[in-house]
Amino acid sequence: MSQLPLDGKRVLVTGGLGGLGWATALAFLSEGARVAVTDKRTPTDPMSPHHKEHLRGYVEIVSGQILYVQADITWVREVERAVNVVADSFGGIDYLVLTAAVGANLDAEAGRTIVCQSCLEYDEKDFDLVMDINLMGSLRFIKYTVPHMPASIESAIVSVTSEFADGKAPYAVAYTAAKAALSAVGTSLAYDTQILPRRSVVLAPGPINAPMLHTNPKAEEEVRKGTTLGRWAEPEEIAKIITTICEVPALQGTVVKADCGFLMRA
Ligand SMILES: NC(=O)c1ccc[n+]([C@@H]2O[C@H](COP(=O)([O-])OP(=O)(O)OC[C@H]3O[C@@H](n4cnc5c(N)ncnc54)[C@H](O)[C@@H]3O)[C@@H](O)[C@H]2O)c1
Repeated sequence: MSQLPLDGKRVLVTGGLGGLGWATALAFLSEGARVAVTDKRTPTDPMSPHHKEHLRGYVEIVSGQILYVQADITWVREVERAVNVVADSFGGIDYLVLTAAVGANLDAEAGRTIVCQSCLEYDEKDFDLVMDINLMGSLRFIKYTVPHMPASIESAIVSVTSEFADGKAPYAVAYTAAKAALSAVGTSLAYDTQILPRRSVVLAPGPINAPMLHTNPKAEEEVRKGTTLGRWAEPEEIAKIITTICEVPALQGTVVKADCGFLMRA
C-alpha cells in the first residue's frame, strides 16, 4: 500500500470542533496523520446549522479515529493538561494548529453579545476577554506544546489569524488587535532560538463558510461585494492549505493569505 503524505505525523488542532478546526482535523486524518482536537465545547453540544458536521455528529471522535480532549483555552492548567494528554497518547506532537477563537461580531461562546466593535465604544472587560481567547489562548498552547515537538524543520506551528489582522476592520477592534498580535508573534517564532528549527507560519484566511462568519447575518451579501472572488472559502479549501504548510518546509516565518481577494466589509 502506498504511504500517505502525513503518515504517522501527530497533530493537535485547537478549536478542533469548530468549522475550520474540524475540517482541518479531517484533512490531516485523510493524509494519514494521528489527530487530536481540543475545544471548550464537547462533541455532543448543540451545533450551529452552519457547521458542516451538524448532521454527522463527529463520527471520527465517536469511532476513536480522532482524539478529543476538552480544554478551555483561557485556563492555563486545562491547556497544560490537554497538551500532556495528547503528547502522552501520541508520544509527541509534530504540528500545532491554532484555530480556537471567538468572532468579530458577537461572542456566542460567552452567551451574550460582546461590545468590542468600534474604538470609541468597546467595553474593556469584553476587549480583555477577546484578547484572552484569541491571543493568549494560542500563546498558552504554544508554550506547553513546543517541548513535545521534535526539534526539526518537519515540526510546525500554524497560527490561524484573519484578513482583519491587516486592519481594514474598524468595527472589530478587539478581534483585529488580537489577530494582528498573533500574526506578529507567529512570524516572530520563526526567528526564536528556543523554537528553531521547528517552523512557524501564519495563515490569514478571508471569509470561510463556517459558524463564525454566519454570526454576521449580512455575511453573504458582504462577502459577495467585499471580495474579488465574490464568494467565501469552504473550510476544506483552507484546511488543504494548512496541511500543505505542514508538508512544505520552505514555508517558514511567513504569512500565507487566503482571503478570496478581500477588499473590505461592503
Ligand atoms: N469563519 C470565518 O469567516 C473566518 C475568517 C477568518 C478567520 N477565521 C478564523 O478561523 C478560525 C476558525 O473559525 P471558525 O469559523 O471555524 O469558527 P468556529 O466558531 O466554528 O470555531 C472556533 C472554535 O473555537 C472554540 N473556542 C472558542 N472559545 C474557546 C475557548 N475559550 N476555549 C477553547 N475553545 C474555544 C469554539 O468552541 C469553536 O469550536 C478562527 O481562528 C477564526 O478567527 C474565520
